[in-house]
Parts: sequence; structure tokens; C-alpha cells
Amino acid sequence: MSGRPSHVKIVEVGPRDGLQNEKGVVTVETRVGLIDRLSAAGLPVIEAGSFVSPKWVPQMADTDKVLAGIRHRESAIYPVLVPNLKGLDAALAAGAKEVAIFAAASESFSQRNINATIKESFERFTPVCEKALAEGLRVRGYVSTVIGCPFEGDIAPSAVAAVAERLIEAGCYEVSLGDTIGVGTPAKVERMLAAVMAHVPAGKVAVHFHDTYGQALANILASLNMGVAVVDASVGGLGGCPYAPGATGNVATEDVVYMLDGMDIATGVDLGAVVEAAWWIGEQLGGRKPLSSVAVARRAACQSA
Ligand code: HMG
Ligand code: MG
Repeated sequence: MSGRPSHVKIVEVGPRDGLQNEKGVVTVETRVGLIDRLSAAGLPVIEAGSFVSPKWVPQMADTDKVLAGIRHRESAIYPVLVPNLKGLDAALAAGAKEVAIFAAASESFSQRNINATIKESFERFTPVCEKALAEGLRVRGYVSTVIGCPFEGDIAPSAVAAVAERLIEAGCYEVSLGDTIGVGTPAKVERMLAAVMAHVPAGKVAVHFHDTYGQALANILASLNMGVAVVDASVGGLGGCPYAPGATGNVATEDVVYMLDGMDIATGVDLGAVVEAAWWIGEQLGGRKPLSSVAVARRAACQSA
């Protein structure tokens, strides 16, 4: 149980990982409205979108307009995903201060997601990192499929560690370990984290759990117990990955905040405001109820009060 942090940074990925998976078009106005609600709720990091090929992920087109439309609060940073130099140049032109590059621990997923082998992906990422750092940007790294891959099955922890270490060597200040299809369990997560932390310090590790099998909160608790202090989450449990069949949304931000509040771990995030944002985006997306237990329970409690 040693090493559990007293403060956790929550990285809100709903406006990117959540909305990239929507079937219908989500307007720039709605994307801006969601981000502004999340920054008002005190979230310190809010992924605002991605500069990827609109042929591959049309939902993230117009991320430049989103960055231009949001209220830029001093208390928050608004990273965007970039897969290559073209994406980085677009991010720079849009005034982004932080970018994220995304690799995978599985060859098949890398191929399907970014049309490159893992080796080729690093040939692309190296100049992206060099230019981003030279321009004064911060660079975050993702590793996808850290537990399982939709095409290859189980992934060896050593494969995850190798990719995570390369991202840090390339200049990423932090590496987010993504259970893309949400198949992890605490024991598997502990094995994977132990392998990564043999090469990357705990202070540079973030966890990113999709909740397909309902294990995300348990996996986060296991990660906290190993000293991880950065947790990715998505308001209302929105999301999935367009190139990971069967993957559902990330763990809901409000579920994470509720758990951490109850453990006296500080986040600086206002639970009530996140719950309101979850209901608001559900309404914008056609009257959908948030997937999160906490959002539903809090609304029921308010209505019966
Ligand atoms: P490609 O087809 O091999 O690229 O795709 P290309 O260089 O041959 O270019 C093809 C076309 O795309 C060209 O346009 C380029 O100009 C254009 P055309 O000449 O045909 O008109 N293009 C771009 N346009 C805008 N912005 C760009 C860009 N780059 C090329 N940056 C590529 C390769 C990487 C571009 C493509 O595969 C791609 O965009 N993939 C992104 C996939 C994606 O966004 N996936 C979701 C995010 S990852 C995720 O969700 C996982 C995560 O949450 C963690 C986890 O859960 O595991 C992070
Ligand atoms: Mg994801």
C-alpha cells in the first residue's frame, strides 16, 4: 500500500477520446461548451481535440476552431493529439501549448490506428518531438493496448515498457498507459506497471483505462497503490476508439473524483460541476443518460431532496 499519492492530477479526455467516437457530428459550439464547463469545474488538463487526418477521424476536424473558441483559463492546459509533423504544424498554428503523440504496444493496433509499424511510428514521432520541444511545447506520450489488443490478444508487459521508455527518451514529460479495450484487471495492471516502472519513474506515469469490463476504478486503485498520481478520465464515461472494435468509453471523470474525494486524495475538481457537465453533454448528444453511476446517483439524490 506504500506510495499512494495525496494529490492526483486528472487529465480530462472526454472532448477528444470521448467525442472522437461519436457517430453524428458534434458542433464546434458544443465542443467548446463542454471544454468550458470542464475547465470551470477545476480540471487542470483538458484534451481539446486532435490534429489527425479528417479522413481517419472526421469527428476531430475543426480542432483549430475549438481552440480558438474556448475560454483559456490560467488554471488549465489544453493539449491536442498529433500523429505527425503535419498535425504538429496545425497545432502550432492554432496556438496549442501541449501536444500528445500516440504509439502502441501492439503492431496490429499501431497499423490500424496510424497506418505504421511501431518502428515507423517512432521515425515519425522523433522529428515531431524535436520540433515541438524546440517551439517550447510540452509533449505527452501515449501507449495504447497496454494490456490487450483487439487483434492480437494479451500484450506482454515488456512490450509496453519498451515503448513507454522510448517515448520518454524521445522527450515526453509523461507517458499515459492506455488499456484501450478495457480488458485489464488489477493483477494484470500491477504486472504491467511493475514492468514499466523498472524503466520509467512513477512520477512520469499516467494511467488511461477504458471501462469496457467495468474494471477501471479497481485498476486505478491498484495504480494509485503503486504510486501513480495522474489519471485520465472522460466526463460521463464518453468514448471509445474508432480503431478498437468493441472498446467503450473511458472511466467517467465523476466516478474517479468521487472515489478520490472519499479517499481524501485532493484533485481540485468540483464533483457537482463535473456531474452537471456530464448531464449537459448527454443532452447535447440527443438526450443520452451519462454512463457513470455517480452522475446518475447524484441527479437522483438532487431530485429527491
Ligand atoms: P495515412 O493515410 O497513412 O497518411 O494516415 P498520409 O501521410 O498518407 O496522408 C493521407 C491523407 O491524410 C493526406 O491527404 C494527408 O494530407 C492527410 P490527401 O492528400 O489524401 O488529401 N493527413 C493529415 N490531415 C490532417 N492532419 C494530419 C494529417 N496527416 C495526414 N495530421 C495518419 C496516417 C497518422 C495521418 C492517420 O492514420 C491518422 O490520422 N490516424 C489517427 C487515428 C486516431 O486519431 N485515432 C484515435 C486517437 S488514438 C486513441 O484514441 C488511443 C488513446 O486514447 C489511448 C488509448 O486509449 O489507448 C490515445
Ligand atoms: Mg483512449
